[in-house]
Amino acid sequence: MAAQNKLFHIIIFALVLLVAFPVEQANAQGLRVGFYKKTCPVAEKIIRTTTARYISRVPSLAAPILRMFFHDCFIRGCDASLLLNTTNSRRPAEKDTPPNQQLRGWQVIDAAKAAVEKRCPGVVSCADILALVTRDAVSLIKGPFWQVQTGRRDGRVSNANDVRGLPAPTDNITSLKRQFAAKGLSVKDLVVLSGGHTIGNSHCSSFTTRIYNFTGKGDADPSMDKNYVRQLKAKCKPRDTTTIVQMDPGSSKEFDAGYYNMVLKRRGLFESDSALLRDSSTQAYVQQQARTRSSTFFKDFSTSMIKLGNVGVLTGRAGDIRKKCAFVN
Ligand code: HEM
Ligand SMILES: *[C@@H]1O[C@H](CO)[C@@H](O)[C@H](O)[C@H]1NC(C)=O
Ligand SMILES: *[C@@H]1O[C@H](CO)[C@@H](O)[C@H](O)[C@H]1NC(C)=O
Ligand SMILES: *[C@@H]1O[C@H](CO)[C@@H](O)[C@H](O)[C@H]1NC(C)=O
Repeated sequence: MAAQNKLFHIIIFALVLLVAFPVEQANAQGLRVGFYKKTCPVAEKIIRTTTARYISRVPSLAAPILRMFFHDCFIRGCDASLLLNTTNSRRPAEKDTPPNQQLRGWQVIDAAKAAVEKRCPGVVSCADILALVTRDAVSLIKGPFWQVQTGRRDGRVSNANDVRGLPAPTDNITSLKRQFAAKGLSVKDLVVLSGGHTIGNSHCSSFTTRIYNFTGKGDADPSMDKNYVRQLKAKCKPRDTTTIVQMDPGSSKEFDAGYYNMVLKRRGLFESDSALLRDSSTQAYVQQQARTRSSTFFKDFSTSMIKLGNVGVLTGRAGDIRKKCAFVN
């Protein structure tokens, strides 16, 4: 009788597993390359053509688009919550906060979405479109190309308060490592993805305290190259909120390993860039990329971007496929 009872339990357990496992698998399976192969085979091509149309005219848009993807993934996961507009002024969206108001290129995402919707309405998520446009924009400015895993779904919530989860330019290495670890990203991902600063610009206001009043005594960060501080002061006055400077001077439109040269020469623009010299493993990576001609940066960047693209994704039946990226359905 006891043996029969035990067998009964085993059978029930097996049945429960059978029912639960396919569901589990669909979620754990998560993203995959070619998710839209059957449902919208032209999607990736349409997105690339649309992105190319914008980037060929305005290559400088690649940088804010790359940063847009990073911000989306760090706030509530890569769910396109960053793309949502504020609809109730008492509850502002992520988009309407200082770090995200610096972003540009929303029109590229909207154009890609509109073009895809025309061919396959209601199939391709805004979160996947952002991931694909980002890859295309980076590769179109001679950066690396990687296979984008797709199958993300769009979130329904965008809350300005959540942007506190973004790293700040004043963050130290301990804090940066902690913030990346909290997203399942390694110390290597931190040093590799920081290489995104090889393109684009920064507003003076993101670093004026560092060059004018680092400890509150009218000083500059002593860990910065003195000539670099002088050059930055010539471009940026203490309360300047509009001027922009190139983050990788001279090659800020080219996706290359030049960023690591700058960091190694104590010319990292933010404390968060210089911080990479304060940890033995990130420092070793900076030195390695700055010194070797055959840099592994492109390969590493591709790997880390795929990992970044998996942070907190909604899959399966979670979330929506938005009709317009700026609004929930
Ligand atoms: C590690 C922590 C990071 C911090 C603290 C940080 C901070 C910043 C800041 C303060 C700016 C300048 C914004 C402005 O003043 O206009 C900036 C720009 C930028 N960031 Fe980061 N960032 C980080 C990581 C990343 C990552 C992981 C990526 C992408 C892989 C990225 C890509 C960019 C790009 C491309 C720009 C230039 C944007 C433009 O040209 O408009 N950043 N970042
Ligand atoms: C959404 O917000 C952006 C600013 O973030 C604005 O330019 C755009 O016009 C808004 N879209 C709509 C349809 O209201
Ligand atoms: C790093 O920053 C964190 C948070 O701002 C702070 O608590 C910590 O003391 C800092 N660590 C070092 C070594 O400066
Ligand atoms: C520098 O920082 C100190 C302390 O935060 C502040 O009292 C002072 O007004 C600042 N000076 C300038 C020029 O901003």
